[in-house]
Parts: sequence; C-alpha cells; structure tokens
Amino acid sequence: MLDKIKALHEEIQALSAANGEEVEALRIKYLSKKGSISQLMADFRNVPAEQKREIGQAINELKNFATERINSLRQEAATEDAMAMAAALDLTRTPSPIPMGTRHPLSLVREEITSIFRRLGFSIADGPEIEDDWHLFSALNFAEDHPARDMQDTFFINSRPDVLLRTHTSSVQIRAMEHSEPPIRIICPGRVYRNEAISARAHCFFHQVEALYVDKNVTFADLRQTLLYFAQEMFGSETQIRLRPSYFPFTEPSAEMDISCNLCGGKGCSFCKHTGWVEILGCGMVDPNVLKACGIDPEVYSGFALGMGVERIANLKYRVNDLRLFSENDVRFLDEFAAAR
Ligand code: DAH
Repeated sequence: MLDKIKALHEEIQALSAANGEEVEALRIKYLSKKGSISQLMADFRNVPAEQKREIGQAINELKNFATERINSLRQEAATEDAMAMAAALDLTRTPSPIPMGTRHPLSLVREEITSIFRRLGFSIADGPEIEDDWHLFSALNFAEDHPARDMQDTFFINSRPDVLLRTHTSSVQIRAMEHSEPPIRIICPGRVYRNEAISARAHCFFHQVEALYVDKNVTFADLRQTLLYFAQEMFGSETQIRLRPSYFPFTEPSAEMDISCNLCGGKGCSFCKHTGWVEILGCGMVDPNVLKACGIDPEVYSGFALGMGVERIANLKYRVNDLRLFSENDVRFLDEFAAAR
C-alpha cells in the first residue's frame, strides 16, 4: 500500500495541464469521489491495525499534496487561458461606429448668428425668461394701452400683472443698460413666449436674438453697415439688404430689414412671393425715452438695436417650413443636420 501511495505521489508530482479543462479532468481522476485517492481511502479499511497510523498519515499527506498540486495547476492554466484570449484579440481593428448625436438646427443657427456678432465685438448677454412689466414693456416705451400687454398675447404667471413670460428678448437691452455704462455692445440669444395657438406658422414659444449697441455718435449708418455685414456673412456675399420704415415703441426711427431672396437670388419665386425680397428682422435707433429710463443721457449717447427670430433664419437657411418640427425632436428630422454638426 505504501508503494502504491508513493507511486501516486510521483505521478501527481509529474502532472501538467494545458488549460482549465485538463485541470478539471485531473481533479476528477484523483480527487473526486471515485478518484484514485478516494479508492485508497476505501482500501484503508483492510489495512492491519498496526499499520493504520502510518498509512493513514501517508494517505492524508497524499491528499493534501494532490489538492495543492491541482490548485496550482489550475492557477497556471487560468493565466495561460487569459494570455491565449488576449493574443486572440485584434487591437488594431477599427471599433464599430458609435452613433453620434446631431446639433439641433436652432442651436446651429443661434451659434452662427452670435459668432458673426462676436466678430464685430459684441459680447453675449443673458436675462430671465420670467420678467416683470418694467423690463418687458414700460422701460421699452410701450404705452399703457399697447396691445402687446394684453393677456391675449402675453402669458401671465398666476394672473399677477407684474410677473410674465417674456414675449421678446428686448427686455435684456434694459437689463444691460441698467447695469453697465456705455459703450455697450451686446447680443442676447434666448427663448420667448407668446400666447398663440400652435400651428405650422406660430408657436407658443420660439427663439430670438437681440443686439444692442450704445455709445457716443452711433448712427443709422452704423446700423445699416452692421446689418449688411451680418446678412452677407449669414446668407452669402451676394446678399443685398433693404430697409423699410416700420414702428416699434422702443426705436425711433424703426425699420424692418429684408434680404434679397436667397432661393432665387432676387429674381422672384414662390418663396419670396415673386417680390425678390424676404423679411428677416426688426431694428432701429434706440428711442431717447428708453435710454432715459435706463439712466443713460440721450444728449450724450445714442444707440441702435435689432431683433430677429432664430426659427425664421433657420427657415431661410434650411427651408424648415413647419415650426412644430423644431420642438418635436423627431430624430429623422434632426438627423438631416448631421452634416452641419
Ligand atoms: N422685439 C421685437 C419683437 O419681438 C423685435 C425687435 C424689433 C427688436 C426692433 C429690436 C428692434 O431690438 O430694434 O418683435
């Protein structure tokens, strides 16, 4: 019996395994219930009493030795398995493409507008979407009975006359002038709200970009040149502009700007209703009353302001003729702007 144990010891000492599966086969061969060591234990019953102590010890040692040996073989095989897996990985392969999101068309257009004005030295200003009557209307020279103050157009918060959602970004002009001294050169992109039924042409919220320049000797010629630069940067160097007299409470004189239709080049088509021109923004010289309301002396300073709808510009650039598309977040629509990312 002792010879048998010795022979097994040598056999186990010499074992080797190439992978985890082979180690498992060895464990079953030697250590499982039907394995050779269990077999020895069964034979142990027939060992004469005076040898029991010696042989029992030898079997136990053999069992411990086999367990240790197989555990260490298992560890070696695991390292080898991991190395084989790593060798099978091709680290030079291109990973599968990760689907990229797209910039929202309104963000693209807003960025483009603001970057044009930044090049002219305008900096970005911000203001709250929940406004008070002073910043939204009174300081902007709106008469007490101006229809824009009507509940029909403006969303009021809890029917409190002094808490409302801004209907235009012109309110940021007032905040900028109240808090800084001329020269002021700001551009303010932001969301505005109006109490309109939602359709292809109107929405209860949309986006505007407002610009304001106040300094000594700012003239209408400065306004016109700024507008021409903007239009040609935005729509191409061939673009012409035209100013039509208009009215806004906060500017005097006021104008609306058209650009030569960028679809037909000004020849006339159905998009420009055969006029060759399309309207894009409102503008004018800041009314002296507005400067006064903000503590700026109109005898010393003058300024110009302009405001445009981002959706309107996006429509002209990308022909998106249904306003609702901008807020529905249909990926089929948004994906169309992937190239402009
Ligand atoms: N606030 C005007 C609107 O919501 C747009 C506008 C017109 C802004 C003329 C201006 C401006 O700054 O000078 O329709």
